[in-house]
Parts: sequence; C-alpha cells; structure tokens
Amino acid sequence: MTPRSGCPVSHTDYTSESEIYGHYALLDEEREAARFHFNDTTERGFWMLTRYEDVLAGFQKHTNWTTAVRTALFPGSTIELLPQDLNGEEHQKFRRILNPFFSPAAVRRMEGLAHSRCVELLEELAPKGHCNFVAEFAIRYPTDLFLILMGLPVEDGDFFLPWTEEMFGCMLQGDLDGAAVPRAKILAYFQEAIDERRANPRDPAEDMVTRLVQADLDGEPLSDDTILTTCLSIMLAGLDTTRSALGYIFAHLARNDEDRVMLIEEPELTRDAVEEFIRMYPLVIQAGREVQEAEDFRGLEMAAKDVIWLGIGSANRDPRKYEDPDRFLLGRPGLNQHLAFGAGPHRCLGMHLARLELAVVLEEWHKVIPHYRIKEGTELIERGSQLTLKNLELEWDV
Ligand code: HEM
Repeated sequence: MTPRSGCPVSHTDYTSESEIYGHYALLDEEREAARFHFNDTTERGFWMLTRYEDVLAGFQKHTNWTTAVRTALFPGSTIELLPQDLNGEEHQKFRRILNPFFSPAAVRRMEGLAHSRCVELLEELAPKGHCNFVAEFAIRYPTDLFLILMGLPVEDGDFFLPWTEEMFGCMLQGDLDGAAVPRAKILAYFQEAIDERRANPRDPAEDMVTRLVQADLDGEPLSDDTILTTCLSIMLAGLDTTRSALGYIFAHLARNDEDRVMLIEEPELTRDAVEEFIRMYPLVIQAGREVQEAEDFRGLEMAAKDVIWLGIGSANRDPRKYEDPDRFLLGRPGLNQHLAFGAGPHRCLGMHLARLELAVVLEEWHKVIPHYRIKEGTELIERGSQLTLKNLELEWDV
C-alpha cells in the first residue's frame, strides 16, 4: 500500500503486546510527531487521526465514513455485528429497539442487583488473600451482569465465561476459524433462550430477550438470526471492555496509595473518579471507519474504500484538549467530552452500564479489601488491538 498526501508513514503494529502503558507511549509519540499518519502494517493500510479535534470530527462524519470497517486493524473481519454494522437511518431504527435497556433510568433499575452480585463475588474472594484480578474477578463480574441484563440465570456464567474468553482470544488475533467453535456454542445457548421466550414471554420492559422477540422493524418481526447476532454483539462489546477498564483502574490504585485512600475515605468521589479513569486509560484505542466517497479531510486526500483509524487512545490523552493528560485529576475541565465511548450515532450503547459496573466495584471492593498490592514479581503486560492487562496478581492481608 503506498502512502499518499506526503503523510508520514507509521510502521507501528498496534496488535503487538507490550509492557503496561506501552501503547499509550507509542500513541503519544506519534500524535506529537505529526497530526496524521498513514499506517502500513495491514494489507489495506489506514489513515491515523491522532488529535482530539480531528478524531471527534471523524466520529461525526458518519454518512461518508461508515462502519463498513469497524476496526482499522482487522478491516477484513467478516463477523457480523448488530447494531455496529448498520449505518444511517437503519442504524437509528435498530438503536431505538435497544436503547430503552441501556438508558440511565434502566441502568439505575439494575443498581441493586449490581451491588448484591458484586458483594457475593467478594465474599468468595476476600478470604483467599490474593487473586489474579483480571481472570478471577474483572471478567466474571461483567459476565454475570450481562446475564442479568439479558434475563438469563447468573449461574450460567460458569460455562458461558470460558466460551466468551475463547471467542475474544481468537477474534483479537484475527483467527476467525478458531472463533467459530465457541461462537456456535454461545449462539446455541441464546437460541434456547429465544425459543423459551417465544413460548413463555416475560415482561418486555424488564426482559431483553422477550423485547427482541416481540420487537418489529418496519412492521416485520426480527428474525432469530438478527436476535442472535444482537445478543452476541452486545456480549462482545460489553464484557472484555469492562474487564479491561477494571484491570487498569485496579493497577493504578494498587500503585497509587493516595488515590486509593481518597476513594476509601470519600466514596462520594467514585463516579468522578470512574470518568477520569475511563479518559486516562482508553482501552478501545481506535474505532475503524471506511470512506464511502473520495474527499479531502483537512488536507488529506482520501479515496473511496480507504480505511480510517479514529484514534481514541491518542485523543483522550491529547495535551491540546487535556492539560497534563497523564495525571489522574478529578474535576478536570471538559472531562465528560472524552472519547473513550466514541461519539456520534455509534456512541457506546452500554456506557451507562459500564460506568455503573465500575463504580459499584470500586465502592464494594474497598469496603471489603481496602488495601491491596501487586504481587512482587508480577509482570504487567498489555494485549494489543484492544488493550487489556493479561494478568494482574493482587494480594492483601487476611
Ligand atoms: C469501559 C467499558 C466500555 C468501553 C470503553 C466501550 C467503548 C465503546 C466504543 C469506543 C464504542 C464505539 C465504537 C465505534 O464508534 O465504532 C462502543 C460501542 C458499543 N458498545 Fe461499548 N464500551 C464499553 C462497555 C460496553 C458495555 C458494558 C456494553 C453493553 C453491555 C457495550 C456495548 C456497546 C455496543 C452494542 C456498541 C455499538 C454501538 C453502535 O454501533 O451503535 N459497551 N463502545
């Protein structure tokens, strides 16, 4: 792929793993070296937008820049996702079916269950005095809440979780054949739930599968395939991301006693802290888009079918937008304009739920395990593509 517009070429492979915060260091370096880059590490290559103002503008150009490519790193991904793959009016109509389950009011209704499930998990964990936080807690909790949200039994997490882990692992390495095996098991599980709700509908205001079964799009019911894809897409979008956010937050708090003590002593600051953590540690470092019609974007000549990298990870840490961006700072100006959840019509469907989950964990964990440390000798390695800590061994006194 030949770069155009005299744009600097980036050879950085963002799918590789690194030590913790290694990807942010690379992104910071590239953003400060040039406003745009052309990255040549994939077959199609991609334009990288690195500065806050450009990335925000990119999210808003949703008619010409569509999700025909969802991730610049794997533009050939053929796994269908809903609502992610839709654009324009079709997308809006579909979001209208899902939005009621993810509104602030709907999420507030889950608050009681979110607390009680977190307390149950902590009761099991606390007496052990140690855990691999990402594998034993940070993924289990969002999985359980996902099942509760869908109206499915929380105990199913025991077998559901390994399937989802296997599927993520394969997808993030571009191994679509490998992903097909766990995908089939997950779909069979959702199909059972669909069949059950068709036979015994529940309250559609409370039960998401019933709502999907009863929903209509332009007067037509949703097909089973559409419902299955939707359930799978919400699962894929919601579990790994929340786990990753928890990993970065707890790594930060284990290493920064002052911030941890502040949250223990002033739990009312938790919601603000969650927002600043999400800004500071963006784990979805980019969203992909595909140009539909050739255009000039702020001096870059883009052709139809070009791939774009909307650099969330660089934008959230852009010093032109956030002064001293590497600092954890409560109440910073413009905090709620961060792009960790994207922007525009594809803005994260589950952002209120994610915020709730993170806040509940911070509150409940610190009541039971206020002081903890990273086990000596633990190497903190982050996965590439969509960041997550591969391992976070925590220990505490019991
Ligand atoms: C800290 C946690 C999370 C982060 C950082 C995050 C980030 C994002 C981002 C950046 C996008 C936009 C992608 C784009 O524009 O192409 C997105 C979309 C989405 N997210 Fe999240 N997310 C999180 C949690 C969740 C949760 C908990 C759920 C649901 C249970 C969820 C469901 C979705 C869905 C369905 C979309 C697609 C929306 C659309 O295309 O209309 N996310 N998320």
